[in-house]
Amino acid sequence: MKVLIVGSGGREHAIAHSVAKSPKVDKIYCAPGNAGIAELCECVDIKAMELEKLADFAESNQIDLTIVGMDDPLVAGIVDVFEAKGLRVFGPRKNAAIIEGSKAFSKDLMKKYNIPTAAYETFSDADKALSYLSTCNYPIVLKADGLALGKGVLICMNEDEAKAGVKTIMQDKQFGDAGNNMVVEEFLVGREVSVLCYSDGTTIKAMTSAQDHKRAKDNDEGLNTGGMGTFSPSPFYTDEIKQFCEDKVFGPTIAAMKEEGRTFVGILFVGLILTADGPKVLEYNARFGDPEAQVVLPRMKTDIIDVLEACIDGKLADINLEFEDNAAVCVILASDGYPEQYEKGKIITGLENFADKDGYYIFHSGTASKDGNIVTNGGRVLGVTAKGDTLLEARANAYEAVNWVSFENKYYRNDIGKAINEA
Ligand code: AMP
Ligand code: GLY
Repeated sequence: MKVLIVGSGGREHAIAHSVAKSPKVDKIYCAPGNAGIAELCECVDIKAMELEKLADFAESNQIDLTIVGMDDPLVAGIVDVFEAKGLRVFGPRKNAAIIEGSKAFSKDLMKKYNIPTAAYETFSDADKALSYLSTCNYPIVLKADGLALGKGVLICMNEDEAKAGVKTIMQDKQFGDAGNNMVVEEFLVGREVSVLCYSDGTTIKAMTSAQDHKRAKDNDEGLNTGGMGTFSPSPFYTDEIKQFCEDKVFGPTIAAMKEEGRTFVGILFVGLILTADGPKVLEYNARFGDPEAQVVLPRMKTDIIDVLEACIDGKLADINLEFEDNAAVCVILASDGYPEQYEKGKIITGLENFADKDGYYIFHSGTASKDGNIVTNGGRVLGVTAKGDTLLEARANAYEAVNWVSFENKYYRNDIGKAINEA
């Protein structure tokens, strides 16, 4: 069969890698892809938000299955556009992708269906939000309602910071229309864990857990980023917590979406925080995580095509979802300065060191081909993933492999997975 993947990051490279392992697949396209993805897929020069063009491409090239990696096209309704043409596509429809596209929607959903999450208020009027701030206990969390590249969340230590935050989100519109509405949320304390789940709308099956490191600098300092590294599984996600999440969070979320007439087919990514009062949902995403996919997918034993097709066909209950009994760590190599100013176009060397090395992967994010070289082309450049029998071993392997590639201004965190020592 022929598969089209939509997106251009490390997540899409990891998806392409899993798809390429399936004996059912003869040809993979990726739009728009990147220099690493081009080794596995034919890259197509169509942007992820050019929904009609993508559907036309899928139609004229007889694509059997399209997999949407990114959030923006899902929230914009790419699945509806494909389905209108009778094309097979994996991901939630627009009316279900809203679970990621609007934090106000997801908070109201959790409240209505009793799914554990932080207490909150929603505002569409900046003045009302500002007067509410004097009644809050601090710290509090301000969240732009819409998509903001993972940056629309501000943790405010006092009322002055919160006032400045309201200005940033609702008045200066630093995150654009994402800030038309804003959620003000109780600040929660605990370890974070990401659980990505497959859903066919009725049945939901959780994948192995992972933990992201969102801040730019070691010891969780610096600005929030898309994610600087991950490990999987999370040793803090115990069997007891897992059972709680399956019973009180994952199942109820999918049932709630169905009840609301927004049947959710696709990846439900649940961002959890493990508080002293039990697990609570921080956020939902409607797609694989990046870089969560880079540690979860290499550990998945089940053929990804079988799973995705079962989701589309409402047959996920028949799938035996299996993961390797090992661990993986991914360290993101970024351009120094990310997530603010950084330079592009630096030549990358040493990528060939990953060829034929079992258990080691180099996933490309911001890379491009130029004059016969592979060069940096984004803030997050590469994801170095290594497996090991244990998290400690995977971590040592990943940090060894980090040295196999070089480029000017290469920057990475040194403490990805360090927390496993506390488990
Ligand atoms: P989100 O995009 O909603 O997951 O938020 C991004 C990050 O902000 C999360 O991964 C947390 O580290 C932090 N965060 C979000 N909401 C809260 C909260 N209610 N309490 C504490 N930290 C939070
Ligand atoms: N790594 C977090 C995300 O993909 O949203």
